[in-house]
Amino acid sequence: MDRLPGFRDFYPEPLPPTKDELWSMDARNYLFDTWRAVARRYGFREYDGPPLEPLELYTNKSGEEIVGQLFNFTDKGERAVAMRPEMTPTLARMAAAQERAYKKPFKWFSIPQLFRYEKQQKGRKREHFQLNCDILGEHDRAADAELVALLIDSLRALGLTNADFVVRLSSRNAWTELFASRCTDAAKSYDFFQIVDKLDRTRPEESAAKLAPLGFQLEEVQAFITSGQPNAELQLILNQLAARGLREYVRVDYGVIRGLAYYTGPVFEAFDIKGEFRAICGGGRYDHLIKQVSGGKVDLPALGFGMGDVVLLELLKSRGLLPQFTAGLNAYVLIEDESLRVDSLRLVQQLREAGLPTEFSLTPAKGDKQFKRALELNASHAVRLERQPDGSLIAKLKHLKSREEVVLAPSAVAQHLAH
Ligand code: HAM
Repeated sequence: MDRLPGFRDFYPEPLPPTKDELWSMDARNYLFDTWRAVARRYGFREYDGPPLEPLELYTNKSGEEIVGQLFNFTDKGERAVAMRPEMTPTLARMAAAQERAYKKPFKWFSIPQLFRYEKQQKGRKREHFQLNCDILGEHDRAADAELVALLIDSLRALGLTNADFVVRLSSRNAWTELFASRCTDAAKSYDFFQIVDKLDRTRPEESAAKLAPLGFQLEEVQAFITSGQPNAELQLILNQLAARGLREYVRVDYGVIRGLAYYTGPVFEAFDIKGEFRAICGGGRYDHLIKQVSGGKVDLPALGFGMGDVVLLELLKSRGLLPQFTAGLNAYVLIEDESLRVDSLRLVQQLREAGLPTEFSLTPAKGDKQFKRALELNASHAVRLERQPDGSLIAKLKHLKSREEVVLAPSAVAQHLAH
C-alpha cells in the first residue's frame, strides 16, 4: 500500500539508492536540534499545542487561501475540526488563555507538523514541519529586529551564508497606506494584498484586470515595489541589525506582502539567493490576531516567523551542507565464543547504562561477519572478551580507525570509552 500523496516517510540513514525522493530522519533531527539550540540561545522557550483544532480557529482569521487548503472534517462528537495548517492561531489561543501567567514580552518557539491540502509541487507538501518563533507583548520594533536576527542565525547555524540566502523585508503598513490613499473600503485591502502577493506568479494582464476595480494600475504598483525605500519602522529594524553585524543579510523589498490575512506591520521572507526554491521562511507582525481569537478579551501585540523543513532540507542538500550521518556507536561487542555470551551481555548492559551507544549480534555469527557489521555501523571500537587460563576475563578494545588495541579489565571498559 502506498503512502498518501504529499506525505513523507522518514528513513534512517544511510538511505537506499533509489530514484524515489527519500527523506532522512537523521537530517530532520539535525535540523530540529540546530533550530532548538539557536532558539534557546536567543532566550526562547519551547511550547506545543494540539494538532487538531476547532475549524473556527482558522476561518475569517488566516485568510481564504489557507482555509481552502484545510484538512477538515466533522468528528464523532459532531464538532467541525481541522488539522492545524499553521501554528500561529494555536499560539494566539494559548497566549490569550494564559496571558497573565507570563511576564511580557514572552518569547516562545515550537516545531509543529502542519497539514495543508496543497497542490503538490517543488517545495510544497501536504505535511511539513515548521520552526515557529514568536514574541508576544512587545510593540517596540526592537522585537522585530530580534526576530529577524534569530531567523538569520538559524540559517547561519546550518552553514548557510549571505551568499546562499537573503531576507526580504517589507511593511504591511506601507502597503496599507498606499491602499488607503486610493480606496476607502478597508474591507477590500485583503483582496489587494492577495493580488500583490501573487504578482510574480500571475500573468500581468490578469493582475492588471484584478487591480483596476480597486483603483490601481499595475504599473504604479510595480513602481511602488521597485522604488521602495525603507520607511521609518523598517529603518529602525535595519539599524539594529547593522549593530549586530547582520545588515548584509537583509534587503528592503516591498514585493513581499505575505499571503496570510492577519499581518499588520513589518513582514519578511527568506529566500535562497539563486532563486531556485520557494520561500524558506515567512513572518511578521500580527498585532490584532490575539484580540480577534480571544473575542476581544486579550489585546497583545505579537510577531513571529515560520521556517519550513521541506525547502530548507532541499537547499542544504543541494549546497552539500548536510553532515554525513551514521549510527554513531561507541562500541560493538563481538561474541566470537558463545560460552562468553552471558558475560558479554553483562558488558553490553554496563556500557549502555554508562550512556554509550552499544551494539552486538543478537544471534551466533562468525567473527568476521560481526567485525564487518561493526565497521558498517561505524562503531568507534570493537570490544571482545577473552577468558584467561586462570578463568578470569579480559576485554580487548580495538579502535576501528587507528586499529590500535588496548587490553583492560571488563569493569574498566565503560570508563575508557567515555573519554
Ligand atoms: P507561511 O508563509 O504560510 O507562514 O509558512 C512559512 C514557511 O513554511 C514557508 O516559507 C515554507 O517554507 C513553509 N511551508 C508552508 N507551506 C508549506 C507546504 N505546503 N509544504 C512545505 N513547506 C511549506 C506561516 O505559516 C505563518 N503562520 C508563520 C508565522 C509564525 N507568522 C507569524 N508567526
